[in-house]
Amino acid sequence: MFNNAMENIRLSPIVSISEEVNKKAAETGRNFILFQRGEIGFPTPQYIIDAMVDALKQGMTKYPVSGGHIRLKKAVIQKLADYNKINGIEPENIIVTHGGQEGLQLVFQLFAGKKAVGFAPVWSCVLENFVPYAKTDFCQIPLADDFSIDYDLLEKEIKDAAFLYLNTPHNPTGKIFVREEIEKIVEICRKYNVFILSDEAYERIIFDGNEHFSPMQLDYENIISVFTFSKTYAMTGWRLGYLVCRNKHLTNLIKLGDYTQTAGVPTYTQFAGAEALTNTAKENESVTSFMDEFRERRTALYEGLKAIDGIKLPVKPEGAFYIFPDFSEFVPKGLSEEEGRLIVFNKLIDAGVATVYGSCFGKYFQNNLRFSYSTTNLAQISEGLERLKKALHG
Ligand SMILES: Cc1ncc(COP(=O)(O)O)c(C=O)c1O
Repeated sequence: MFNNAMENIRLSPIVSISEEVNKKAAETGRNFILFQRGEIGFPTPQYIIDAMVDALKQGMTKYPVSGGHIRLKKAVIQKLADYNKINGIEPENIIVTHGGQEGLQLVFQLFAGKKAVGFAPVWSCVLENFVPYAKTDFCQIPLADDFSIDYDLLEKEIKDAAFLYLNTPHNPTGKIFVREEIEKIVEICRKYNVFILSDEAYERIIFDGNEHFSPMQLDYENIISVFTFSKTYAMTGWRLGYLVCRNKHLTNLIKLGDYTQTAGVPTYTQFAGAEALTNTAKENESVTSFMDEFRERRTALYEGLKAIDGIKLPVKPEGAFYIFPDFSEFVPKGLSEEEGRLIVFNKLIDAGVATVYGSCFGKYFQNNLRFSYSTTNLAQISEGLERLKKALHG
């Protein structure tokens, strides 16, 4: 009776894990170390909040301009040129969205019912939300154990696909796709006339002097890049993002989709977003302080996990705030994938450590667990590692 696209959607398993943990904590009175959420622990910087209050006081409370306000679009154009080295973008190439999530969902909707490909592991929301909602035929292309790309496999699967979903820096592995990899990917997409949906939510969360490379830096028109304020500015609850595409026919279609489903993003929120991008002194201050903290947490968690016998960490994550180690050593041999998939996850839950199990990110990497250090401070990381060690080795 109802639209089965809606009936097939699930709330993110990460949300379900959080609910389960809260319930267990209430029942048992024990505290948990929470490595499961991609939420940011820091508050939104005050200068951004002030800009929103000012915009409200100025009366920016009417229906928003469809596609986005010119003030934010101009700020985005400057940011794209300065940070992303993406030039030649005009206001009509940009659509302001309700977070990165709406931008991604609109593009899945644009290609509804078609085949798409994406590297696995893949962010759970793609699998649980966008794919069923748009009835996408989604083909997972596994990365190797060291998260490198099998280009032959990519080429084989992409031939008859409408688009490739590419996420860099990558959730859940923390991999950044470097320029050389992106050049090869774009070449393959160009050869088969396949569009690229580039999810760049973690563009500013990059370590060790690496640089974020956006596919839009290359000369290929059929790329739609999705950005968000959520992670860079600790604005997860504001629901503000934007997408950019050189092909204006696509942005026109997406604008109609956005207008139909939301009638646009509140203007006062967009004014705050413009201030977030253009007040570079304040921006630098806040982004630098978030990154200093993330850097320390990442080192503590990565080194701590690496030091525990049996946990495999083939590469050090270079971006985002996730680590995705392999726990195969701790899964008893001879079990089916279904039987083995939650064994280590449950053991850690029993020890008061919440992570996300690998099967949330697709059909490969079922023995991995995702650790997020976006909300855990150094003391919690250290306590979490102690509990982990005890749970695995007694
Ligand atoms: C890979 C990836 N893309 C996009 C998003 C979208 O974030 P938002 O909708 O808050 O902008 C997230 C959020 O966790 C993410 O992990």
